[in-house]
Amino acid sequence: MKVLFICLGNICRSPAAEGAFRNLVKIKNLESKFEIDSCGTSGYHDGELPDPRTRKVALKRGIELTHRSRKLKHSDLYEYDYLLVMDDQNFKEVISLIKEESIKNKIFKFAKFRSGSGSDIVPDPYYGTEKDFESVQNLVEDCSIGFLKFLGE
Ligand code: 4NP
Repeated sequence: MKVLFICLGNICRSPAAEGAFRNLVKIKNLESKFEIDSCGTSGYHDGELPDPRTRKVALKRGIELTHRSRKLKHSDLYEYDYLLVMDDQNFKEVISLIKEESIKNKIFKFAKFRSGSGSDIVPDPYYGTEKDFESVQNLVEDCSIGFLKFLGE
């Protein structure tokens, strides 16, 4: 199963989601079943490590983020089984690149997998405070559990 997390810059939300999901998969001993990556729709931060605030809050949960930011490639849309976007803008951008209905069906808003009621987006913390980064971390951990359940694991 190939899973791709997508946001705008690939330095805050999608690397946090990638790290949280990767960590959960490891805890559940499911590593052999998954290929997991993340990317951004923009390429603004190509080659960079995640934002220091993203890395700090992940590390507090024992998750080290070593991913390097990369831009979404057209081939990703075919190669991955799940395209998990963080917000409506990501959704619109990704869907605009796809003609085939079957490929469009691979796009999901990651926050749809949250446990409680609430927004179906993971809000962009880039211009926010460390508290906003903590909220993103909590949300992507919660959504990771929901997504894994959705997959029947
Ligand atoms: P991300 O956050 O999409 O969660 O990685 C952002 C990171 C950088 C920018 C915007 C959002 N930026 O404008 O540089």
